[in-house]
Order: sequence, then structure tokens, then C-alpha cells
Amino acid sequence: MSISDTVRKRVAQLREEILYHDYRYYVLDDPEITDSAYDRLMRELQMLEADYPELITPDSPTQRVGAKPLSEFSEVRHEIPMLSLANAFEEQEVLDFDRRAREKLGVDVIDYAVEPKLDGLAISLMYEQGSLKQAATRGDGTTGEDVTQNVRTIDAIPLRLRGKDYPQTLEVRGEVIMPRKGFEKLNEMQRQKGGKLFANPRNAAAGSLRQLDPRITASRPLAFFAYGTGVVRDGELPATHHRIMEKLRSWAIPVNPESRVVKGAEGCLEYYRQMQEKRDSLDYEIDGIVYKVNRLDQQEQLGFVARAPRWAIAHKFPAQEEMTTVLDIDVQVGRTGALTPVARLEPVHVGGVMVSNATLHNQDEIDRLDIRIGDTVIVRRAGDVIPQIVSVVKSKRKGKPRRYHLPDNCPVCHSPAVRLEGESVTYCTGGLYCPAQRKESIKHFASRRAMDIEGMGDKLVEQLVDQGLVNDMSDLYSLTVEQVAALERMAEKSASKLIQAIDKSRHTTLARFLYALGIHDVGETTAQTLASYFGSLDAIRKASVEELQSVPDVGPIVAQSIVNFFKEKHNREVLDKLLAVIELPETPRREATELPLAGKTFVVTGTLSDMTRDEAKDLLRAKGAKVAGSVSKKTDYVIVGDNPGSKAEKARALGVPMLDEVGFHELLDSL
Ligand code: IVH
Repeated sequence: MSISDTVRKRVAQLREEILYHDYRYYVLDDPEITDSAYDRLMRELQMLEADYPELITPDSPTQRVGAKPLSEFSEVRHEIPMLSLANAFEEQEVLDFDRRAREKLGVDVIDYAVEPKLDGLAISLMYEQGSLKQAATRGDGTTGEDVTQNVRTIDAIPLRLRGKDYPQTLEVRGEVIMPRKGFEKLNEMQRQKGGKLFANPRNAAAGSLRQLDPRITASRPLAFFAYGTGVVRDGELPATHHRIMEKLRSWAIPVNPESRVVKGAEGCLEYYRQMQEKRDSLDYEIDGIVYKVNRLDQQEQLGFVARAPRWAIAHKFPAQEEMTTVLDIDVQVGRTGALTPVARLEPVHVGGVMVSNATLHNQDEIDRLDIRIGDTVIVRRAGDVIPQIVSVVKSKRKGKPRRYHLPDNCPVCHSPAVRLEGESVTYCTGGLYCPAQRKESIKHFASRRAMDIEGMGDKLVEQLVDQGLVNDMSDLYSLTVEQVAALERMAEKSASKLIQAIDKSRHTTLARFLYALGIHDVGETTAQTLASYFGSLDAIRKASVEELQSVPDVGPIVAQSIVNFFKEKHNREVLDKLLAVIELPETPRREATELPLAGKTFVVTGTLSDMTRDEAKDLLRAKGAKVAGSVSKKTDYVIVGDNPGSKAEKARALGVPMLDEVGFHELLDSL
């Protein structure tokens, strides 16, 4: 039976559309359609291909996974070697690099293409007639490994180029990276199942790409940015690096959106400083900036020395890993009673920040690293995450220090500490008898994003609990100015201010209150969703596990922990006491489709002071909003944090309303 033209046309059209939406999503970071609409296109194509297998082509978007595991990688010779870069650590080295280049070219000022140096794995992608034919690692620069079937599983890498004006043979070079968030998640999963942890996103990216079974690679959150080209035949590329990158972008190859063209060494250094500021807020790790002479004719004139070009240099950021000693291991008791071991370190500067503590997570992690008091260790900090210990420098171990074990009793209340079968966390069994748990739950209750009681700092909570003035959160509301004024470092005035702040918190939102209770697994987003969905505390309190699970994003574990919380006698007592003194507004119960921000599109940019951008996005989504990656006329609001960059400028130019952090919180509270 011959396949009708209609089917052929539809298949071609679907592929075109999917390619276009991949481009919007991965290259422009500005999706046009929802995930479910995208899934529908994909499913329709899969169904047609299942009915007409003759129509399947290797570069169809359905063909990313499916190859069988290999027994080994084969070798690939790079027709044009993949070089490395010279490094600069000091500004002077950059000035020298620029001076040498200017002298050799006989010019006064050089235009540089500048871009982040990504901390991942170099890769070469060979496109023939616009189809991805081969992907290889850099290897020793001359010979790499054929990782085609793994690279095909990376959604950001197009199997087919968009448009028509690409060279018939085009080698794209760039870096495969693992974004921070994906890395954290992967390690958390590995930690839970007792698997191998990766020391950093670079190792994770490399380890993921060098899997013989492509299904494993497919499950890993990898991304890609191009930074150059190699072999080019039957076609032309523009005459500057920057314009080549723009061309690649038009063909659906992701290119770093932070890339710029600057004038001279001064421009390079200025960009370096800007990116250093911005570094922690990027979704992925960078370890420096690469400066490249922008004009290709000038690159050619400058040529190469040994294995590195004379027209480019990598200006490295200060290291994010340093060596130091473990002075002691302490145990912290959290709000839920979890005992967390913390390494006290000989203070050390890591990437510009003084670090004196690192979390050790749990006993398994201590065993895995085999950390002992007195050990020399490598600490690493990246982004805004808590510093971690990467490894122990065993060769520097002195004597035979004993292995460390978490105590059998809670260090605060001395109740037995237990570790349940199959769990990695050890818990204090003291419950609210344990002052540490009490303190933590009150600190959480009063915190900015919960009840927002201004002036209720950690030290104050500790005094209040230690002196027996406050046993649970409801006791806060019967404190008097005299009681507070008698505490250390408090006076009449600060005490009455605090009491006022406590009073003010009597009027709050249901979402904040719910979050403030500190129910296991109920973070801010879940609290927001529950509040919008049920409308009243009473309704949530009465809800069954099944009813709770009908709320978007509430799974069986979260639902169970909510039910458990409201079942527990002590919690009910505290709750009743609280409800007698605070006022909660009632909002009518809403379906997920009529959430308050449904139909509105937001963009979040810059650094927020009390949450990450991802948390802000989650909060918006919990209220039904759509969150986009870039500003357009269709954007309803832009949330602007510190150091916002081009998105805020664009919003201003287009007249899109902008909200600062205060405005953002007011908006959330008003819903
Ligand atoms: S350009 C001939 N640009 O750094 C120059 N490299 O030390 C080719 N890298 O193996 C490299 N980010 O893996 C270039 N924006 C960037 C880069 C970058 C990371 C890596 C790349 C290369 C190594 C060179």
C-alpha cells in the first residue's frame, strides 16, 4: 500500500513544527506553546511513524533514544585538531595578551568576542546536509571517542538544522554541560539510592556522556552551547566569530546568550567583572571568560603556538575549590528532628567567600568520603548552595584518626536517635520535647516568608525557649513587652517593636500560615497551591489523602504527611490555640484552571534576595501563571531583582510592567 501524500505532508509538517518549538525553547529560551501542546505534536508524529515505519528518518525528533548499548566506543580522528586555550589568571596577563596581538596585527584596538568559559566537556558535532551524523569527544585533541548515540539523546542538540543556508558539511564545536539544578537533583537521587556521587557538574556531564548505554545518558539533564566551528565544506560562514555564532543560532544550535563583542583589553576586563558578579545567578557553572579576536582574518594572521591559538585566551575566575582541615564534626538538629553532621573547617577563602562550615549530609556521606576529624579536605562552593566536601586528601592524613559516627542520642535533648530501615537520615525521637526542634519550628514560623515577624531573630527565639517563655508557636502571641524587655540585648523600645510585629502577624494569608506550620514536605509552593485550591484551613484539615492528591503537584507522600500532621494530638492543640489568636481570610475553593494568575505570563530576571529565581518561578506557577524565558509584547509582568541585565531593559523598551521584590511579595499576598 502506498502512503498518501497527506500523511507524508503531515509528517513533514509535524517535524518542522517540533523543530521550530525546540528552537524556541532551547535556543531562544522563549517557548511559544505549553508542554502539553508540544507533547501532543510529538505523540501524533510517533503514532504516524508507528503506522508508517517507512517514513522514519534518523533525524526525526522521535529518534533520540532507542539505540542499543555499546560494548565500547570507537575512535574518531578530528580532521582539524581540537585545541586548548592558554590561561590567564591576572589582569596583567590579559593586557599582555592584547598587546602582543595588537603588535602582531599592527592595529590600535582589537574587537573581541567574549563569552563564558563553560565547565563541561568539549564535543564535536558533524552535520551532513543538515543532519547530525556524528558526535565525538575531544579526547587528546587529535582522536576522540564516538559518542553519537549518547549525544542524540540531548534534547538541546538538534538532530536536524533549521533553515536552508547551512554548509553541506558543518562541524559545530561546543561544550556539553550539566546545569546546576539538574546536577543537584542527580546527586540527591544517587545519594538516596546509595549510588556514586559526582564531585561537580563537569564530572557529572563527562560521566553521563561516556555511558555505553544511551538510555542512561538520556536520563541525565544535559545541555549544550556551541563556541566554534571546525570543518566547513560546500557553504560559507560569516567573517567574524560573533556573526558565525548568530548563524549557528539561526540553525537551531544553542549559543551562549551572554556572548558579546567588546573593544580592547579594557572591554574584556569590564565584561569579566560583570560576569563575575553574575556568575552565581547563572543556571550552569562557568570557570572563567574566553576572549577571542572577533575577525577571522585577524585570527588567521595571528595563528597558533603549540596547541593553542594566539587569538584566544581563557581568563579564569578564582578557584571554587580549596584545601583546608576539618577541625571538628558537629551535629545540628533540624526542625523535623533530622540530625545533620556539619564539618567545622579551618576558615578558607573559596571563590571569594570565607567558608568555615560544610554540610556532611548524613552518616552515609561521612562513610562514603571516609572523613575523620583532623583530615585535610577539598571544599567546594558553587552558586548559592551550602559548601560541600568533595574529597579527603588521604596522603595528608596524620596518625590514625578514628572513624566518625553520629551519636546514638540527640545532642540536645538526649532522646534516642534512630535511623529507620532504608532511610539515610537519623532522627531525634524527642519530637517537641526536644528544645532544638522547638526552636527550629518557631524560627521557621516567624521567618520572613512564613509569618514574617520582623525582629524575631534566631538568638531571640533561643532565649525565649531556653527561659521557658515560649514552648510552641502559639505562646508567641501571649508574650508581653516586660517579658521581652528583660531578655539579653533587648530594651523597652525594641521589645515593644517586637510585640507590635507579633501582633501584625495575626493578619496573614492562608498560604503563609500553612507554610509557617512546618508540615513535612509542605514548602512554599505546595502551601500556595493548597491554599488556592481549598480556600480554607478547615477544608485542608478535613481533607483525605485522596482529596489532597487531586491537587496539582501533591503526590501520595506529601498528602500523607499533611494528614499525619493534622492527626497528631499535639499539633491539633497548638493549631487550635493559634486559630484563637490569628485571623485567616477565607477564599472560595478554586479549580486548578481558575488559579488567580491563570493566563498571565511572567518573566523573572536578576538576583532576588530571599529566594532563587527557580523558587520565584515555582511560586508563580503555583498561582497558575506561565513563566517565560524572555520578554516580549505578550509578557504581562517582569519581576526584577538585583543586577537584572537585558531583560529589564527590554521590558522598559516595550512598556511591560515591572515589579521589584517588594511588589512581587505584595502581589503574591494579594492573591
Ligand atoms: S574556544 C581553539 N570557548 O575550554 C579554541 N572553549 O581550554 C577552542 N571551553 O577544550 C576553544 N568554554 O572545552 C572555547 N566559550 C568557550 C569555552 C571553551 C569552555 C573549553 C573547551 C576547550 C577548553 C580549552
